[in-house]
Amino acid sequence: MTISERKSVNDLSALPADFTWGVATAAYQIEGAVTEDGRAPSIWDTFSHTPGKVAGGDTGDVACDHYHRVPEDIALVKEVGAGAYRFSLAWPRIVPGGDGPVNEAGLDFYDRLVDGLLDAGITPFATLYHWDLPQALQDRGGWTVRETAEHFAAYTAVVVDRLGDRVKDWATLNEPLCSAWIGHLEGTMAPGLTDLTAAVRASYHLHLGHGLAVQAIRAATPDARVGIVNNLSPVEAATDREADRAAAVRGDGHINRWWLDPILGRGYPQDMVDLYGVELPVREGDMELISAPLDWMGVNYYFRQVVTADATGPVPHAKQVYLPGSRHTHMDWEVHAQGLEQLLLRLTEEYGVQRLYVTENGAAYQDVVLADGSVHDPERTQYLEEHLAACARAVRKGAPLAGYFAWSLLDNFEWAYGYDKRFGLVHVDYATQRRTVKSSGRRYAELAREVAAGRSRKAA
Ligand code: FCB
Repeated sequence: MTISERKSVNDLSALPADFTWGVATAAYQIEGAVTEDGRAPSIWDTFSHTPGKVAGGDTGDVACDHYHRVPEDIALVKEVGAGAYRFSLAWPRIVPGGDGPVNEAGLDFYDRLVDGLLDAGITPFATLYHWDLPQALQDRGGWTVRETAEHFAAYTAVVVDRLGDRVKDWATLNEPLCSAWIGHLEGTMAPGLTDLTAAVRASYHLHLGHGLAVQAIRAATPDARVGIVNNLSPVEAATDREADRAAAVRGDGHINRWWLDPILGRGYPQDMVDLYGVELPVREGDMELISAPLDWMGVNYYFRQVVTADATGPVPHAKQVYLPGSRHTHMDWEVHAQGLEQLLLRLTEEYGVQRLYVTENGAAYQDVVLADGSVHDPERTQYLEEHLAACARAVRKGAPLAGYFAWSLLDNFEWAYGYDKRFGLVHVDYATQRRTVKSSGRRYAELAREVAAGRSRKAA
């Protein structure tokens, strides 16, 4: 494809001039400083320090040392053209024991971050939980017990009380699917359990925690705009066989409907309740809390899933396969921008969502630092352009998409994959903590400027 052909395919002209251009990070992936100023361990400290759990034995102990580099990193948010910054707060910095005493020094850190962002003209989007549960709560059952949801709401109230005068955009949870399914069923993320009953109970208490947190945010700041962030994937059958089509329905239930239906007032999908065979610990009034009205819905999109039936495999008995000829990133995730358009339209048409953000989207590639110190990453640039164009197509077809957050501002600790997988628009040299804006970061800034100025290309 020539450059001009690519330009006309990647038409962003439908994106509105006031579209929110953001970048995203998460506390444990960038902050480091895990024992400083009163922070207590989270389940990710425990998990990453357990031999064999994270590639290369990597941990978040230092990460990008963001805790000590806030002004420099805020300048980078600006340099890559973002007007909004999605970050998460570390619960174990703020309420180190999970419940009980508040650690003022932890709140002070986020206070400085928020003030720095606002001074730089950047809108903060705060996520209250991006997987770093205080270990003290895990020791008491973690998300498998109801009390954790209640403690999450109490921690939320503390945070919103301190920051709610300046932060208006709040996400309760990031990707509860990963906490529940990957953390409690597949076992490859903290807390590392492989127990379906624990996983289903965790999913329920995460939802309950979300509902209680929404209530706490609204009580403290009536003008807050509250949402939740889910990772979603269109699920397609690999063949037309009846068994594969049924597997795709189960896969969709496991990945999408279980996470959308209860939040959007439809209750838990009965086919999945039957498949899991685990009783949900629902109490009176819970489902109303869980489905409390939201101001927006966040979508994290990375790949679609193509599946075949797998009767003897784990629930949902659907195995992911790769179609021949598909492109993949360094994570081995398929590049399929069309899937993002499909998801945004499904949320609009089937679920009636009124305001959407793409809260994460991005790609890992094996970046090379050139002799002159620069990092040229054309594959990541192409990935971003293709997915932004998918957003624009969805907008043209009616999706109420208000913004897009690239994952990620910085290369960072990619959970069980450690530091080997680089998602940043900004390269981090972990030995020196030197940051270098990649060519994708410069391109992102250029696209944001063009769209804001109404100069984005019209379709050829
Ligand atoms: C998402 C996570 C985020 C990051 C990206 C690559 O699932 O929310 O923290 O790891 O994947």
